[in-house]
Amino acid sequence: MRGIAVVNMKGGVGKTTTAVQLAAGFVARGHRVLLVDADPQGNVGHLLGMSAPHTIKELLLGTATASEVIRRDDRRPGLGVILATPAAFALETQLASTMQRETLLSRRLSGVTGFDLIVFDSSPAMNLLTYNVLLCATELVLPVGMDTMALAGARQTLNGVNEIRSLWPDRRLALTAVVPTAVSANTHASKATLQALAADAEMAGALFAHGIRQCIDLTYAAAAHQTIWEYAPASRAAEDYDALLDHLEGQRAGESRHGKEENAPRVQPSLH
Ligand SMILES: Nc1ncnc2c1ncn2[C@@H]1O[C@H](COP(=O)(O)OP(=O)(O)OP(=O)(O)O)[C@@H](O)[C@H]1O
Ligand SMILES: [Mg+2]
Repeated sequence: MRGIAVVNMKGGVGKTTTAVQLAAGFVARGHRVLLVDADPQGNVGHLLGMSAPHTIKELLLGTATASEVIRRDDRRPGLGVILATPAAFALETQLASTMQRETLLSRRLSGVTGFDLIVFDSSPAMNLLTYNVLLCATELVLPVGMDTMALAGARQTLNGVNEIRSLWPDRRLALTAVVPTAVSANTHASKATLQALAADAEMAGALFAHGIRQCIDLTYAAAAHQTIWEYAPASRAAEDYDALLDHLEGQRAGESRHGKEENAPRVQPSLH
């Protein structure tokens, strides 16, 4: 199954925002989506206004099955969610002596049916949960905030991903979108970061040049426990995430046409 991991070791770059809008956006396009929160901060639950008795922690510990931890919300048919809470911070030590603990999530989700794709939100860290996400996903979406530190975080993340690729060479893990977030076209920081992304040999090939513009509606939507499609479907954030969905659907179309994700068509850069 297609699995999209939204990752960046840098905090606050728009991972959760992107994971949630992508999951809900794919649902709006007719896909059945499982959204997995692999960050003990539990921000997916905060954003969507959901809670659950069983979370990713019980799934990884083996004290609950996948069907027991997948939550549904009548307001959002087509979307299943596995939540996280701060209790998952303890997993690192609880699983310390478990064999092959990096592939637990992949094994626990292997029998799950009824979804067309999985979207993973992750922590701002290369920790056990993030490794589990990377070993479960088939592709990466890398949100990058408009500053030097976000760029450094993106580079460190890709170094970690390359390490995973060399340790588990059989795993498919394509970088399908590097997503500039909170872009403010007129600022020096945005221009410099976009230029640096375009100049990076690894990131430039997957650059979603359209970017996600700075848009306060994303913050208001989160405060209202709504997706951008529910809260402000005519906002520029909705427009930009719609373009990102096109980009990701194009990747899939490109993959089936050419057999390689690298050959997928890219959306044209737009000026804003
Ligand atoms: N395009 C945007 N324009 C304006 N604000 C944004 C944008 N994207 C995200 N934000 C805001 O930035 C803040 C951080 O976003 P988010 O929580 O998605 O980041 P994160 O990478 O998941 O953080 P963490 O690393 O802590 O998990 C939130 O308040 C969110 O509403
Ligand atoms: Mg987050």
